[in-house]
Amino acid sequence: MTAAQIIIRRARASEAPAIADLYVAARRRASAFVPTVHRDDETRAWVSGYLVPRLEVWVAKSRAILLGMMALDGDLVDQLYIAPAAQRRGVGNRLIAHAKMLRPARLRLYTFQRNAPARRFYESSGFVAIEFNDGSHNEEHEPDVLYEWKGTSGLGPS
Ligand SMILES: CC(C)(COP(=O)(O)OP(=O)(O)OC[C@H]1O[C@@H](n2cnc3c(N)ncnc32)[C@H](O)[C@@H]1OP(=O)(O)O)[C@@H](O)C(=O)NCCC(=O)NCCS
Repeated sequence: MTAAQIIIRRARASEAPAIADLYVAARRRASAFVPTVHRDDETRAWVSGYLVPRLEVWVAKSRAILLGMMALDGDLVDQLYIAPAAQRRGVGNRLIAHAKMLRPARLRLYTFQRNAPARRFYESSGFVAIEFNDGSHNEEHEPDVLYEWKGTSGLGPS
């Protein structure tokens, strides 16, 4: 897989089961950093019944293989998961670059404070931590951090 072979497009409803498989596998792989409170069957039902039909879901594919998924909710990156076998090969970067193109003014996202790999990924992509929370507002009750990326649109000439 080379970067040029990756295409990014909106998810189709028929892809919900494959997106759910990727989501479950990526969370399991990241379980040291991403606690899970739902059973896999509950997660699959949520992906098919809520995430794909209700949010703006994008997929990264190479030929027919699903490499990653990203869900946007306004300017919030609600979900970003790369297939375990495709991690650290630039797919996350491609999806985040796509989100920046779609929302050039601003992006925000939450991640768990202990998810050090994801935090390094977002920080390497220009996101800045702007708020640390104690976890009382997420269902995992896990301390999280709000990141923000500010684009250049709206900035006048210096
Ligand atoms: C975090 C995640 C989205 C990153 O996507 P990715 O495709 O693996 O990352 P990329 O290959 O685009 O990495 C780009 C840069 O981010 C940084 N980075 C990415 N993963 C990293 C890791 N595990 N440790 C340290 N830095 C990392 C590096 O600077 C990397 O550049 P480099 O490989 O040239 O050093 C992906 O690994 C993932 O799905 N993780 C599990 C689920 C998760 O935690 N999702 C985020 C929930 S908020």
